Amino acid sequence: MKLRPRDTLVVASHNKGKVREIVELLAPFNLHVFGANDIDIEEPEETETTFAGNAALKARWVADRCGHMALADDSGLVVNALGGEPGIYSARWAGPGKDFYVAMARVERELKEKGATDPSAYFVSALALALPHEEPRIFQGEVHGHLTFPPRGTNGFGYDPIFVPNGETLTFGEMDPAKKLAMNHRTRAFQKLTASDIFER
Ligand code: IMP
Repeated sequence: MKLRPRDTLVVASHNKGKVREIVELLAPFNLHVFGANDIDIEEPEETETTFAGNAALKARWVADRCGHMALADDSGLVVNALGGEPGIYSARWAGPGKDFYVAMARVERELKEKGATDPSAYFVSALALALPHEEPRIFQGEVHGHLTFPPRGTNGFGYDPIFVPNGETLTFGEMDPAKKLAMNHRTRAFQKLTASDIFER
């Protein structure tokens, strides 16, 4: 599996925040990058039980349907005091309206109900790169930190307003987007991908 300058790569996601971050990370590699939205492929059901499993499922789904290499990310917030939830269900906690203020309120409520004292949490990103009808390659990154309530900041997306990475005082929602991008889970997974033998320079 190789990626060369001017190859076409489809980002297998309908999440605009994620696609924006991935397109930015891919910018130095001179590829033709499309989002799954641009080529009108619907989203598959995420039926696997791990981040890596769901990323592989999404990448394979898009690659097999469009005939190009596809890159998918499955990501989410793992809260230690909640036994790892919302985890792979991070998007689903936002409900059909995809309202992450609903999801963040649920995290706060469940922590209170449990009388939890451990605010530690981390974001995970599993990236899967698939060629049509081939087994995807997986690269995983994490960023560790703690949760804070109420949510702060309007930058970013998803759970960003309640997450403070280790060594920082601002939430990802308050942080300059370039600074978040430099340290987040997706970038760390990406660094593993770009350090691999896949990119031909
Ligand atoms: P999925 O990978 O599309 O199933 O959804 C992952 C969900 O995790 C997203 O919808 C976000 O709510 C959350 N998430 C993933 N990455 C981030 C991030 O960088 N910041 C905030 N929330 C994130």
